[in-house]
Amino acid sequence: MKEHTAVDRNTYDQVMLPIYSPAQFIPVRGQGSRVWDQHGKEYIDFAGGIAVVALGHCHPALVDVLKQQGEKLWHISNIFTNEPALILAQKLIDATFAERVFFANSGAEANEAAFKLARHYAITRHSPYKTKIIAFHQGFHGRTLFTVSVGGQLKYADGFGPKPADIIHVPFNDLDAVKAVIDDHTCAVVLEPVQGEGGVMPAAPAFIHGLRELCDKHQVLLVFDEVQSGMGRTGKLFSYMHYDVTPDIITTAKALGNGFPISAMLTTENIASVMTPGTHGTTYGGNPLACAVANVVFDIINTPAVLAGVEKRHNLMVNFLNDINQKYSIFGEVRGKGLLIGAELKAPYQGKAKDILQLAAENGLMLLSAGGDVLRFTPSLIISEEEIAQGMERLELAINQLT
Ligand SMILES: Cc1ncc(COP(=O)(O)O)c(C=O)c1O
Repeated sequence: MKEHTAVDRNTYDQVMLPIYSPAQFIPVRGQGSRVWDQHGKEYIDFAGGIAVVALGHCHPALVDVLKQQGEKLWHISNIFTNEPALILAQKLIDATFAERVFFANSGAEANEAAFKLARHYAITRHSPYKTKIIAFHQGFHGRTLFTVSVGGQLKYADGFGPKPADIIHVPFNDLDAVKAVIDDHTCAVVLEPVQGEGGVMPAAPAFIHGLRELCDKHQVLLVFDEVQSGMGRTGKLFSYMHYDVTPDIITTAKALGNGFPISAMLTTENIASVMTPGTHGTTYGGNPLACAVANVVFDIINTPAVLAGVEKRHNLMVNFLNDINQKYSIFGEVRGKGLLIGAELKAPYQGKAKDILQLAAENGLMLLSAGGDVLRFTPSLIISEEEIAQGMERLELAINQLT
């Protein structure tokens, strides 16, 4: 029998579909906001699994619930319902505008459900021609053919043959551009309240309010993709809560399971009522194991202590970034909301985000980019001040080596 224990980064190139280019080290263990690789080297984690590990690695309460539910019931299918799913749905409803919940396993699946629901609602309630979806340049909604087509980056959507039709993209934060294309044949306007992958770009409040008015005027559903911005990431449970606007559908994933795959689509009773048994579904969505974990994640994140701590950590991180900028004059703009922060590289550093990520890793820091020009910071919502300071020290070392 072949021995399978000795794997390293080279193994990746030999066995995996070449769609990622992971860092040169392999993390094997994590605790809070620290991670260790195969050789025992320690890293501060400013990436948080791309805004997923909101309560840090191996949070004791989450390890506990995983073990407990793991010994009780993992999966039962949607032919039967289960207690953790019903309890989680109740919690999400109590905390938001929503009255109905659909669980899935990833952000893309929650969005796929949202887009199908928006189309189905418009077709059922209004007209078979009300199918236009308005979305935004640089938006990101996942990698299924429908979600990647709603996403606003052609480089991800092209090359796979015919796309779902009747999707139109306009510039983000440009209300006039939406006004020019919205009409009674539009079923949905879809956006991330803070664009994540597209460069960490928050929506302007006037833009969100304007969208709500336009949607009401044309009987269009306003869909917020909160896969990245939700579950406390911006300092409120969902980022729509900053805007004093009620969407019709929101999706959430990433931090909802803190790394255990689970996502949800939330909507109103009226909109949900166009769906009937068999209209949509998933095998794993809403399984008791994922929902049990998410219940504990939810209980911890949806507390004043954790949510208020996000703003404090935001300020601390931005101060550090501004200090680094004073010394190295490397960032054009530091922007974002809560712990979804982007630092835009200015000339002559534009396009160098990947180089900085590699130098950061060499100095013991896990960091993300959003495109070639923006460093992205999405750490745990409960990262300690000491870990922030240490991580920023390592970032400065990396930048110093670059300049
Ligand atoms: C805003 C947003 N929507 C959707 C997705 C897709 O989520 P998943 O990769 O879980 O399918 C992502 C992932 O980065 C995201 O940031």
